[in-house]
Amino acid sequence: MSMTQDTFHKPVLATEIVALLVRKPGIYVDGTLGGGGHSLMMLRALFAARFHEGSLLIGIDQDDDALREAGEKLKEYDACSSLVKGNFRDIGRIITRVCGEKGLRPKVAGILLDLGVSSFQIDTAERGFSYMKEGPLDMRMDSDVSVSASDIVNTYSEQEIARLIYRYGEEPRSRSIARAIVAYREKNGLVSRTEELAAIIRGNAHGGEKVIKTLSRVFQALRIEVNAELDVLRQALFDGIDCLDEQGRMAVISYHSLEDRIVKRVFAEKARSDWGPKGVGLREPLAWGTVVPVTHKPLLASQQEIASNSRARSAKLRVIEKIHQGGCSGLQ
Ligand SMILES: C[S@@+](CC[C@H](N)C(=O)[O-])C[C@H]1O[C@@H](n2cnc3c(N)ncnc32)[C@H](O)[C@@H]1O
Repeated sequence: MSMTQDTFHKPVLATEIVALLVRKPGIYVDGTLGGGGHSLMMLRALFAARFHEGSLLIGIDQDDDALREAGEKLKEYDACSSLVKGNFRDIGRIITRVCGEKGLRPKVAGILLDLGVSSFQIDTAERGFSYMKEGPLDMRMDSDVSVSASDIVNTYSEQEIARLIYRYGEEPRSRSIARAIVAYREKNGLVSRTEELAAIIRGNAHGGEKVIKTLSRVFQALRIEVNAELDVLRQALFDGIDCLDEQGRMAVISYHSLEDRIVKRVFAEKARSDWGPKGVGLREPLAWGTVVPVTHKPLLASQQEIASNSRARSAKLRVIEKIHQGGCSGLQ
């Protein structure tokens, strides 16, 4: 049975997303469908503006529960939506395939990536994403993937664990936590439950608020490693931008600095024109930048939204627009 929008996942910055993305009929891609909250609002906006004829929303998620929930929520929009199980790493291939099946040109008017995990994934103990829920140490968004968080914790060397906690969790005590994990597994066998890992971290931290921070950082680091989140993001940004039609837009909501840094860098790289080696003095660049920023600084959620949805607190929204390869006209 479908849950309400609020219990499964409340979409973040949804009004902003609709206003910035939905501006004409066309193909829209929600690369992180989740419970379908953003998709539902985009579809409603397409209908309200009478843009729905000739429009298609492609919703992608790697999580079966998300696809089931979104399928229910978007049922009445069946005719103009296509939901696909997949990884947004393959966004280009998915767009080409779905458009090919529907006889549409694979040029996209809008792409949304609302990164990370949904409230439903976090709140479901059996998924093992949260140190606050007792469950198997799993953290796979796609249950078909073979390596879970417990596989990592139990098979990586102490040095590899320390490196990933430092790199993906930005946790200064990464080495001593890795040492404690390895000591625990040598003494007690496998670390297979969220509460076991949380206890190891608690036993190693300095108490108070710092423990909570350390717990979130270590769990975040493992989640990023299990789902290869940063690598797939980079790939999806480049391939997604390639699929945008002229004046098509890409919007990305990130929730931590590692993601946001990648989004910022890729957007800047795609906006930059290539003027060749310094001092050559070309009159035209060798290659024009292919996008311009729509948001010069990331948009943040209002205090009002944060009060009703704590997840919005760390959200940062960046949006770019594809421009014609031959010119850099800027936005109207
Ligand atoms: C923050 S939630 C999206 C919530 C959605 N915007 C809504 O309004 O309900 C992120 C979703 O993206 C999915 N996801 C994360 N990384 C993905 C990837 N690489 N490929 C496909 N889906 C991914 C997760 O499974 C999760 O359902």
